[in-house]
Amino acid sequence: MSDSSIGREGAGPGLALVGYRGTGKSTVGRLLAARTGRPFVDADLEIEARAGRSIRSIFEESGEPEFRDWEERVLFEIAEARPGAVLATGGGAILREANRRTLRGFGVVVWLWAEPSVLARRLGADARTRASRPALTTAGALDEIADVLAARTPLYAEVADARIETGGKSVAEVVDAILETWSHATAEAPPREPHSCS
Ligand code: S3P
Repeated sequence: MSDSSIGREGAGPGLALVGYRGTGKSTVGRLLAARTGRPFVDADLEIEARAGRSIRSIFEESGEPEFRDWEERVLFEIAEARPGAVLATGGGAILREANRRTLRGFGVVVWLWAEPSVLARRLGADARTRASRPALTTAGALDEIADVLAARTPLYAEVADARIETGGKSVAEVVDAILETWSHATAEAPPREPHSCS
């Protein structure tokens, strides 16, 4: 895969994964990086390392706006310092316009998607969720997912070059679907509207 030919005009050589919590961005990103020989960066881990505290404590002690400020700064710095990497973003990274601009400049943006019921099941089975994921609303798990996902969907759609359905797929199958999309992106600039790959 030749970096110089990747993606639409204005996109750098990287690949950014966006999507709701539980869509597998970090797990998929790590495997994708290994398969393509690229470095992997997890934006949430970078935020925790630089802030010197967990995301949960940033939310609890300082509030969500301060977390979003960290997120904006760190995404910008990663995009500058790690061109060509595979980047897993936090589920809300698409909320700020500045971040959407950063991600589109960084490279091809792939949106990992799953139905709310699938996400609720995955998140419920994930110990990390209970230990470190702050609640985003006061609604219960499934209602929160449905509400937040509906509100964010236009933003994921705006930033993404492609959408990959992850429900019913193994991590390796999701990686294969991304690699296929990515190789299309090398052959021709992808359409501005995200297309679905199932
Ligand atoms: C968030 C998702 C989290 C993390 C933070 C906020 C969100 O990342 O950035 O807790 O607003 O959806 P994951 O998607 O990796 O859980």
